[in-house]
Amino acid sequence: MVVHRAEPYNAEPPPYALADQAVTSLDTFYSRNHGAIPDLDPSAWRLAVDGLVDRPLTLSLDELRAGFPERTLVATLQCAGNRRAGFVQVRDIPGEDPWGPGATSTATWTGVSLADVLASAGLRPGAAHIAFTAPDVSELAGPREPYGGSIPTAKATAGEVLLAWAMNGRTLPRVHGAPLRVVVPGWIGARSVKWLQRVTAQAEPSGNYFQAVAYRILPAESDPDRARPGDGISLGSVALNCAILGPAAGARLRRGLVEVTGYAYAGDDRAVARMDVSLDEGRTWTQARLAPPDGPWAWQHWRVTVDLPEGETAITARAWDTTGATQPEQARHLWNPKGYANNSWDRIAVTCVP
Ligand code: MTE
Repeated sequence: MVVHRAEPYNAEPPPYALADQAVTSLDTFYSRNHGAIPDLDPSAWRLAVDGLVDRPLTLSLDELRAGFPERTLVATLQCAGNRRAGFVQVRDIPGEDPWGPGATSTATWTGVSLADVLASAGLRPGAAHIAFTAPDVSELAGPREPYGGSIPTAKATAGEVLLAWAMNGRTLPRVHGAPLRVVVPGWIGARSVKWLQRVTAQAEPSGNYFQAVAYRILPAESDPDRARPGDGISLGSVALNCAILGPAAGARLRRGLVEVTGYAYAGDDRAVARMDVSLDEGRTWTQARLAPPDGPWAWQHWRVTVDLPEGETAITARAWDTTGATQPEQARHLWNPKGYANNSWDRIAVTCVP
């Protein structure tokens, strides 16, 4: 793993480790934490469901497992800071880690549908948002408060949002949120709250620092240290994105046929429709073969064989989605002070020798 920070622990796999793994192994899955990792006793742990509900609930893990149908789905998590390194090349982003393309991974998640739990509690009229609260406290939040966030009720009740206790068929690891985490397929990873303790139905989005202040696209010229709650654009659904996983950036290769591989991912209600690779900075493109996704919430790997000439070549990749949209060309057009949602064309340079 490439460790950006040991305390709190933040690490991503190198690109080659994500290649060809439709489901990311547990020891390869990226890890994004804003505070110390809680150590919760699963037998003492309880989930509170409260707010604008007819029947507030307090559920143990056993009650959750016994009381609702078990669901399993494959979903990609993608941090809003994925590929921030491309922004840092444009302009420095102090205080934020320069994530490469590995702040995204895919797992098979097992748990219960949040929709079923909310139906059991009975949502009241006016419950437009579902907020999540965890116990981990971040130094970043001012004033200090536990991690939290929210999603609109329409997404929370759509069925695919899970309260998950297992990952790739194994008990959820502590670093990924044991005993229970939210998995919000198609939305930025920040909403998939780990070490979940409270689900609250409410009229407004969560006022938590990580919803109201962070994970928002601020205007390029604004000072992020002076951002107030509600400033900027709140991030939800993941932007269409792709990355080149092989060959490695900077690789020295023999000239001739080389296989280029990567991932592509379109969040929420879109899917990847096409994947293009260019060897001439986007003047001409070759279509890559997309592997079928492991369901509607999973990324897709792609591969294409190209004929690389001698010398240095820039390899560029871009995805298209089912709305007909494609990725923006330049990171500099997307740069924002916290460095979120870099979904510009991915580029690497390689050198070929005879
Ligand atoms: N949940 C809590 N309680 N604390 C956190 O710091 N980080 C969020 C989200 N859930 C976070 C959290 C962010 S920004 C991301 S991208 C994902 O968890 C990362 O999940 P992972 O570490 O399992 O990959």
